[in-house]
Parts: sequence; structure tokens; C-alpha cells
Amino acid sequence: MARLAGRVAIVTGGARGIGRHYSQALAAEGARVMIADVADGSDLANELSNTYGANSVASQVTDISNEQAVKALVGATIERFGKVDVLVNNAALYSSLKEQKFQDIDVEVWDQVMSVNLRGTFLMCKHVVPHMIAQNYGKIINIGSGTPTRGVPWLLHYTTTKGGVIGMTRAMSRELGGHGIRVNTLSPGFTMSDSNINNNPGHVQTARSRCVRSNAMRRRRIWSGRWCSSPRARATSSPARISRWMAARRICDQRRLNSQHDVRTQTLAKAFSPSSERVDLRRR
Ligand SMILES: NC(=O)c1ccc[n+]([C@@H]2O[C@H](COP(=O)([O-])OP(=O)(O)OC[C@H]3O[C@@H](n4cnc5c(N)ncnc54)[C@H](O)[C@@H]3O)[C@@H](O)[C@H]2O)c1
Repeated sequence: MARLAGRVAIVTGGARGIGRHYSQALAAEGARVMIADVADGSDLANELSNTYGANSVASQVTDISNEQAVKALVGATIERFGKVDVLVNNAALYSSLKEQKFQDIDVEVWDQVMSVNLRGTFLMCKHVVPHMIAQNYGKIINIGSGTPTRGVPWLLHYTTTKGGVIGMTRAMSRELGGHGIRVNTLSPGFTMSDSNINNNPGHVQTARSRCVRSNAMRRRRIWSGRWCSSPRARATSSPARISRWMAARRICDQRRLNSQHDVRTQTLAKAFSPSSERVDLRRR
């Protein structure tokens, strides 16, 4: 029997991007799925219904930042499937956002990102949770991101909301655990979802090079991967003195490695010598 047979799931942002794969995977595991997205998910719903059984997947165009729309969505899900067991809060403004310095972010764009990514997630929980409490069962999966923990730059509005999602999840899980409702965050790494590729061509390149360049503290790296942080190194200022100091360090390190190598070679030779030889050695 499929693992989620008899369960009902709502997937926000489930019509495209990564959310499309969540909808497909849940349907494949036997769940009945409601796809909620600002984009029309009816083609996907029909495709999945044809594959996994009629009446198994539905869709409703929904803006999760709008409370009336969220209420209507939850009502439609209850009417169609009778309950809600699983909520995947995946919808977010992400791939359509352009990377920019935070000083250049318009206040309207900031508010829009907050209203979808945070208010939308909150509203979905607010209107689904009473049904979960009534049945003393529920799973809420809030889609986070690694951006707040890594401090990914050029998307401050987005990164801030994903940090908020993590906080919301932790606090909500404590409020709802007693009702048999589990709340967790799932934080994917950078993913080349179809919407990411279409909306942000070249995103991988820019994200990679910007992250490397944006170390909070630029420190000078020297040979052999050490940070140039010793008091002696800081005291040296002229390039000639630095290179003399580096040459001296290189010689010292090489000598140390050579002597360690000798000791290690002798120890290994002893360890792997035939036991008769070792006995002989001990006797001598
Ligand atoms: N792609 C990545 O590298 C990556 C990494 C970490 C986390 N994530 C997260 O995964 C999720 C999906 O990302 P994606 O790459 O598919 O990007 P995406 O921007 O395509 O996904 C967002 C989905 O939400 C929908 N949506 C947007 N505004 C909405 C609204 N107001 N109401 C309802 N639906 C709305 C979009 O139509 C889309 O289907 C997002 O929460 C994103 O933050 C993505």
C-alpha cells in the first residue's frame, strides 16, 4: 500500500518549480493533493489524476498573501477531500526576484516579499490548523532555505523571510505539538528548478562568484593555506620582509615534515614487520 494512502495534502506553489515535484511525489505516494498556486495548476492536476486515479488531485488558483483567498482554498479542499492532513508551505517569491544590493531594494518589493513568504505561510497555517486540531493529527512542512544560515547576499528581503520561516516553524511546533501536529522546516540547497532556470538564467554563475567574493572579512591567504595572522606576520610590512619570512617558514615546515616522516616510517616499519622479527627485536 502507498505510504500516504488516505492522506490529503495541500501544496502551495505546487504548480511549477520545485513545488511541482512535491505535488507529483505526494500523489505518487497515494495522497490526494490540492495544488494552490497563483499559476494555473489545472494541467498538472489533470495529468496526475489520470496517472494516480480520478478525483486524486485538484488545483485552485490562490494568492496565499490574501486571507480571503486562503479561506476559500481551505474550504474547497475540505469540500473536495473532506480533511487536510499535510500542508506543504512551498509558495514564495524567489526565482522572480532580481539579485541586488539591499540599499537598492524598493520598499514595495520588500513588502511584497514579506507578504507572500511570511504572511502567506502564516495565513495558510492559521486556516488549516483548526482542521488539524479537530482530528488531532497534522504535518506542516515549511519550505525554508539555507540562505539565512549562510548569510547569502543580494537577496536581503528573501533571506530575511526564510530566517522568519525558521523562527515561525520552531515557535509553532511548540504550540501545536500537544495536538498531534508536527511542524518542520525543510531547507533545500540551491536547486535548478525550471522556474529558476527560466526566470534567472545565469543565476548559478552569479550566485557562486558573488558568494565567494562576499566573505564578511577579507583576509590575506598565504602559501600552504595558512591565514597570515601571526603577530610576526602582522609586524612585517615590506614585501621583501614578508617574502623572507615566508621562505624561512617554508624551510622550517619542510624540516618538520621530514622529521615526522622519518619517525612515521620507522614506526610503520616496526608495526608491519613479521611477528618473528618483532620477537627477535624484543629479545635483543
Ligand atoms: N530553487 C532553489 O534553489 C531554492 C533553494 C532553497 C529554497 N527554495 C525554496 O523552495 C520553494 C520553491 O522554489 P522554486 O525554485 O520552485 O522557485 P519559484 O519561485 O518558482 O517557486 C515559487 C512557487 O510559488 C508560487 N507563488 C509565488 N507567489 C505566490 C503567491 N502569492 N501565492 C501562491 N503561490 C505563489 C509560484 O507561482 C511558484 O510556483 C520556495 O519556497 C523557495 O524559497 C528554493
